[in-house]
Amino acid sequence: MKSYRIALIPGDGIGRDMTAAAWSVLQNAAKAHGFVFEATEFPWSCAFYRETGTMMPADGIETLRSFDAILLGAVGWPAQVPDAVSLHGLLLPIRKSFVQYANIRPHRLLAGVEGPLKATAFDILCIRENTEGEYSGAGGRIHQGTADEVAVETSIFTRKGVERILRFAFEQARSRRGKLASVTKSNAQKYSMVFWDDVTRQLSAEYPDVEVTSYHIDAMAARMVMAPETLDVVVASNLFGDILTDLGAAIQGGLGFAASANINPERNAPSMFEPVHGSAPDIAHLGIANPIATVWSGAMMLDHLGEKDAANAVMTAIEAVTKSGIGTVPGRDRTDTITAALLAAL
Ligand code: NAD
Ligand code: IPM
Ligand code: MN
Repeated sequence: MKSYRIALIPGDGIGRDMTAAAWSVLQNAAKAHGFVFEATEFPWSCAFYRETGTMMPADGIETLRSFDAILLGAVGWPAQVPDAVSLHGLLLPIRKSFVQYANIRPHRLLAGVEGPLKATAFDILCIRENTEGEYSGAGGRIHQGTADEVAVETSIFTRKGVERILRFAFEQARSRRGKLASVTKSNAQKYSMVFWDDVTRQLSAEYPDVEVTSYHIDAMAARMVMAPETLDVVVASNLFGDILTDLGAAIQGGLGFAASANINPERNAPSMFEPVHGSAPDIAHLGIANPIATVWSGAMMLDHLGEKDAANAVMTAIEAVTKSGIGTVPGRDRTDTITAALLAAL
């Protein structure tokens, strides 16, 4: 029987309940489709940091490398560990080390979910650059704490990094409705973003079948609310993609619905699947977080592993549940109720 080794990193806050819920659904899908999931759970989190002084062991990345995929809940517990420490100690190094440069975030309304735009139909695939740009971690602070303090955060955009994410996005557009929106702020940022626009134009010659339009990030934010039905594939840099995908989550009804896949397209290292949302400290112990975002991310993992039928079965189960109204109103149905409904629908 075919077997996949999955690294499970529940992380912090609701991440723990969300991965538990998703894992039960994924195990069921595996059973029904004739393959086996072998999970190894890693306790790497802010609690782990408080015990050991690191978010993961020194050989953490090497440990993860042999897995077929990683399923992650959420990282961050800012009341105890500064976010810049926890995220740069676990989540961001995984994305970068495993060259998961394509962060795929689908935004569409699930059956039965109205969303704040009152059921305007849309189907957007956000492709977020996931390894460089504004998240390069280059910079520093001088004269700290004084009136002369200066902080610099350097965005690094490489030809290799920009070309590969744009190429990935063009390919996605080609396989969908043939429309690509490339998002920058090249009116204000005259190096990196003008460079991004240049590369977009250069590559567009190779994709005459794709209609590509460049937008400024501010205009795109408005368009996603006012006319989301005009968008197909949207590609953006690391930070802009981060912001647009919480906006995407909002128009699809909330962060409890937004899934995400951190893909290494070359498949020379594991890819990682996690919801768009974080550890949600405000609702962490209440049992009311929506597991659908993480379950959908799990479906993306099944798809990536080549288990298309199982992936489709999970998506069908999600939509059967939301169509029945369960999980569609934030905070109303308990995590357990939604998970039980998903298992029953499978
Ligand atoms: P968040 O996404 O955790 O929460 C934002 C809002 O959305 C909150 O009101 C929360 O209750 C709600 N929400 C989130 N997920 C939900 C769900 N499944 N069901 C219902 N409601 C949900 O963002 P934040 O508050 O800015 O961040 C909290 C922590 O998580 C921080 O430490 C942050 O750095 C971290 N974070 C981690 C990741 C990740 O690991 N991938 C992503 C985003 C934020
Ligand atoms: C996300 C998160 C992370 C990001 C944070 C927690 C570093 O917001 O996955 O969207 O910005 O990538
Ligand atoms: Mn985010």
